[in-house]
Amino acid sequence: MKNIVILISGRGSNMEAIVRRSVEEAWPARVAAVISNRPDAAGLAFAAAHGIATAVVDHTAFATRAAFDEKLAEAVASHAPDVVALAGFMRILTPGFVQRFEGRMVNIHPSLLPMFPGLHTHRRAIEAGCKVAGASVHFVTADLDHGPIIGQAIVPVLPEDTEQSLAAHVLAQEHVLYPRAIRWLVEGALERRDGVVRHRGGEAQLIGTLVATRAPT
Ligand code: GAR
Repeated sequence: MKNIVILISGRGSNMEAIVRRSVEEAWPARVAAVISNRPDAAGLAFAAAHGIATAVVDHTAFATRAAFDEKLAEAVASHAPDVVALAGFMRILTPGFVQRFEGRMVNIHPSLLPMFPGLHTHRRAIEAGCKVAGASVHFVTADLDHGPIIGQAIVPVLPEDTEQSLAAHVLAQEHVLYPRAIRWLVEGALERRDGVVRHRGGEAQLIGTLVATRAPT
């Protein structure tokens, strides 16, 4: 049984999707722990209610980013993770932390990387007049919101979209994309060469729809 450790900072809906899918699909892996940098992260309650170990490493209690990362790395490593999934984890990690979990640490970002790294991705996509938006799951490297792309989900940007409506539509796709990408990792189904990730069995690494109308959410 492989171990997945998920890092969150807030709501934790992606974490929830991973937990649910791992059980429904009987993965050869379990979510061993959910760790937050914020004591008030709403997702912690869901994890605890599902019998998953939870921990908080409060970044405000540390004088430096390096000291925080050291404690966080200890907490993560104590669960012997095969996969470390950043799911709405809103702290920039030091190169030392990234190096320690390199190759088994992934992130979900709400844009079609390499477009729009950083914050306010949906607002920026709308302001740029993009006709398509989405989310990316990628291996974490020392470069913020960059790293070999495992999978992407696309949604159309409609003329009537607001930052909120676009975020909601992308999030629904995130909940499909991220569990799938984590399953590929635990199955060892991915091959990474020259910065490009391929699914050995040819499963689609792009999901979503470009139909330019959609039902209201
Ligand atoms: C998700 O949309 C995720 O893509 C984004 O934060 C949200 C977390 O929601 N992550 C980032 O912006 C990381 N740069 P969740 O807590 O409900 O999963």
